[in-house]
Amino acid sequence: MQSFSAVETQHKAKKMKQFNLLSLFLILITFFGLANSTIVSHDERAITIDGQRRILISGSIHYPRSTSDMWPDLINKAKDGGLDAIETYVFWNAHEPSRRQYDFSGNLDLVRFIKTIQSAGLYSVLRIGPYVCAEWNYGGFPVWLHNMPNMKFRTINPSFMNEMQNFTTKIVNMMKEENLFASQGGPIILSQIENEYGNVISSYGAEGKAYIDWCANMANSLDIGVPWLMCQQPNAPQPMIETCNGFYCDQYKPSNPSSPKMWTENWTGWFKNWGGKHPYRTAEDLAFSVARFFQTGGTFQNYYMYHGGTNFGRVAGGPYITTSYDYDAPLDEYGNLNQPKWGHLKQLHTLLKSMEKPLTYGNISTIDLGNSVTATVFTTNEKSSCFIANVNSTADALVNFKGKGYNVPAWSVSVLPDCDKDAYNTARVNTQTSIIAEDSCDEPEKLKWTWRPEFTTQKTILKSSGDLIAKGLVDQKDVTNDASDYLWYMTRVHLDKKDPIWSRNMSLRVHSNAHVLHAYVNGKYVGHQIVRDNKFDYRFEKKVNLVHGTNHLALLSVSVGLQNYGPFFESGPTGINGPVKLVGYKGEETIEKDISKHQWDYKIGLHGFNHKLFSIKSAGHRNLKWSNEKLPADRMLSWYKANFKAPLGKDPVIVDLNGLGKGEVWINGRSIGRYWPSFNSSDDGCTNECDYRGEYGSDKCVFMCGKPTQRWYHVPRAFLNDKGHNTITLFEEMGGDPSMVKFKTVVTGRVCAKVHEHNKVELSCNNRPISAVKFASFGNPSGLCGSFAAGTCEGANDAVKIVAKECVGKLNCTMNVSSHKFGSALDCGDSPKRLFVEVEC
Ligand code: GAL
Repeated sequence: MQSFSAVETQHKAKKMKQFNLLSLFLILITFFGLANSTIVSHDERAITIDGQRRILISGSIHYPRSTSDMWPDLINKAKDGGLDAIETYVFWNAHEPSRRQYDFSGNLDLVRFIKTIQSAGLYSVLRIGPYVCAEWNYGGFPVWLHNMPNMKFRTINPSFMNEMQNFTTKIVNMMKEENLFASQGGPIILSQIENEYGNVISSYGAEGKAYIDWCANMANSLDIGVPWLMCQQPNAPQPMIETCNGFYCDQYKPSNPSSPKMWTENWTGWFKNWGGKHPYRTAEDLAFSVARFFQTGGTFQNYYMYHGGTNFGRVAGGPYITTSYDYDAPLDEYGNLNQPKWGHLKQLHTLLKSMEKPLTYGNISTIDLGNSVTATVFTTNEKSSCFIANVNSTADALVNFKGKGYNVPAWSVSVLPDCDKDAYNTARVNTQTSIIAEDSCDEPEKLKWTWRPEFTTQKTILKSSGDLIAKGLVDQKDVTNDASDYLWYMTRVHLDKKDPIWSRNMSLRVHSNAHVLHAYVNGKYVGHQIVRDNKFDYRFEKKVNLVHGTNHLALLSVSVGLQNYGPFFESGPTGINGPVKLVGYKGEETIEKDISKHQWDYKIGLHGFNHKLFSIKSAGHRNLKWSNEKLPADRMLSWYKANFKAPLGKDPVIVDLNGLGKGEVWINGRSIGRYWPSFNSSDDGCTNECDYRGEYGSDKCVFMCGKPTQRWYHVPRAFLNDKGHNTITLFEEMGGDPSMVKFKTVVTGRVCAKVHEHNKVELSCNNRPISAVKFASFGNPSGLCGSFAAGTCEGANDAVKIVAKECVGKLNCTMNVSSHKFGSALDCGDSPKRLFVEVEC
């Protein structure tokens, strides 16, 4: 039997042990917590991470513009391309489609996206907005928000502020719960509130200033432990850090002297509008803008976009933004390397990172070398790094710097990591150019289509059976809440024999803001009009046959994405705002009958959408018959459906919709976006070759004139069943022929490179073997990829043979570009020698 004191001692000892274990546990937690947490701050020079000033290179990838299975690959390619951080906006209307009903599933799984960034070992920049612009429908605002009473966006308005705070807090709390802020050991080093409000603040008067102060206080109160950014916001309320957006930010100076020079959006290319051309920003110019920014004291730079991706479903805004949001970004829409952009920037990033200490801690001196050439020297005790920039847009420069001669081409920056040798020049691209092709190896299967008409159109347009009746014309988004692109405006007009408008020549005149307007009178199609060249406000007028008695008018207003930018953009008109008139022409005399104030019936959406004809389940519905006979080739408001086998392998899949008009397309019930291949761009303004020199703008260097703005549509692998059946469903609004529709894969077709002597040439066909060498010459060859030609001098060794030996049959190959390898090319004189090579994949 144990004595009392023995028991007590044992008890005490047990307690002590428990205490010790507990305190050890607490100590460990605190230790690891602190060890894991990162202190992110800033001074006037740079963002500091755990007290160290950093050069940070970041890139935008928007999670809903790809599918979640693509994220790891996109993020790894970004890391491999030399990025430190991935930036994304947060898309309010996608996450809160109805008030207080949230969706974070599938490609909206923000936490999973940030964790994917974290597991790749990268930082993340979270731009909550929640206004995002981004060519996203309504700039990311939910339309229900606009339809709340007494609502005014982006100003001192209690209803707006309450909703904005609610959503922002929700996102912050989600991140906190998962420990995703750097202060908690997570990857998020920076966050953003609002977006480019400084561009519009003056339109909001004194309330604008009060609003941005409120934004800053609200964000600050959320206590995220990392700095908040406000882009394009001069004099941002403290402690918000203001940043720059644009094609160039080297001339930008933060208005607050204690803010570092930061660039949240370096536009890597541009977006496309329906009817627009294909934008292209050269690798040379993009690299130039980056190098200039760091030369002029910048320390944080984000590519907008690094991967643009796809506007699935109805997320495209604008209005009139295409389904593809490729953006000519370093990673293309499907996630392939956009070469040479990706590789040319990667080389620059490696050098900039090697110069981190001098760039962030060094003394800076600038030397004017004349003729718009300047050298900048960053010096610390340990190391000096230099840049030489030639911002002249036409004249190349030969300059003497620190006792050495340098050739700096026009509109370029040379980077000298140790100030004694130019390791890189932004205009000398040594990275391969990949020419992407649609794979035509396997003849795509011919699709067997079934079809059906959009079924109760006749009933709608003749009987005016709507969802809502109102006196007068209403704004489209006010009625639809943007649940659909389509809204019918229907009315009846009684005309007796004595009506003054009667004449032989009568017309229907509609003043409209509908992106597309289709008009029917007495059940007959009268015609349509589409917005072109940004004329969103137009007059439609067509001759019509009216009858004595009751006339039925049905106008179908179609939206192609809601406005996303500008002061008060949320209240811009959508749909048919009128006046709507019947007009009689009698000789010189014109008599108008304004029917705008009549009673109008409204029907939201089309029956096929409401019955989910695109869903796989609808196939078995007994009332929804599809026919395989008399497939119409040019019938408006029709549904088409076909089964197909998914192309084998892992290459990205696209569907060629050439031959179709306009509409929406679903794969296995999931919308891959709007389509409009019948909309060609105009014939003028394109170039064959793009001069990188001189300032870039979105109209410079456009391609694909007179061609469909978008013919190919991305079909994410995640939407496909590898085995068995897949279904494509089309809703054709305008009329088109589906018989040419084909599924293909996207592969690298051929690869070209133009590499300067003393560099390495690296060729890769992106996971396919190199099959043949089409051209190779070392000396002074010329021409564009696809039409290279030998010059006046050539190395003595057979370049084609050398390249073939090193590369054919391989997935990739690397060679030194030197006279040693390719033979000296004596008669080239002093001019720099280059290897031009083209291989087939
Ligand atoms: C910026 C905006 C981005 C995006 C970009 C153009 O002004 O902040 O969200 O719209 O323009 O692509």
